[in-house]
Amino acid sequence: MLPTMRFSALRLAALTLLVSSVTATAVRPKCDPKARGPSLQQRQSAAIRDFAHIFLIEQDPKKAFDAYIPGTYIQHNPDALSGREPAIAFLTELWGTPSLKFSNVTAWAGEGYGLIHYRMRAPDADIHNAIMDRLRFEGTCFVEHWDVIQRINGNETNPLAFF
Ligand SMILES: *[C@@H]1O[C@H](CO)[C@@H](O)[C@H](O)[C@H]1NC(C)=O
Ligand SMILES: *[C@@H]1O[C@H](CO)[C@@H](O)[C@H](O)[C@H]1NC(C)=O
Repeated sequence: MLPTMRFSALRLAALTLLVSSVTATAVRPKCDPKARGPSLQQRQSAAIRDFAHIFLIEQDPKKAFDAYIPGTYIQHNPDALSGREPAIAFLTELWGTPSLKFSNVTAWAGEGYGLIHYRMRAPDADIHNAIMDRLRFEGTCFVEHWDVIQRINGNETNPLAFF
């Protein structure tokens, strides 16, 4: 009994190691949480622009998260819980909405935060929003998220509404 148990435990450990090393190589981040130094601001600006491109133009939330949110993800959206996996699952499903398109995308970084502002529209699903995401940097990775979502009805008083 004991040797068998030991063998299984060993096999399990080996399997775990294999799975985690596969995960580690499959998900190679483009960011560095330890990035420091005088060029950090420029590297953070490049990071938020590249993140926005993958997330909104390529429309690939998993790729965007794997590249720039490899670890901790503290969530402040009232309808979601913290962690990469819940966010990826939720966004992948939402991004699968037919006719979904993003436009009016702006992205910039400063003071240790990245901001993206954009229009999200899926006419077939009655989705039309102006969204601002605020992401906190650790190095050139993101670790914390806040968002503000405005519904666009098309009857706004201000002809310059939203964008
Ligand atoms: C916003 O995007 C729309 C297309 O969705 C475009 O027609 C419009 O010119 C853009 N507005 C600005 C201010 O860039
Ligand atoms: C615009 O339309 C929405 C949804 O139909 C409605 O709730 C809102 O009161 C309207 N706003 C104005 C300024 O007419």
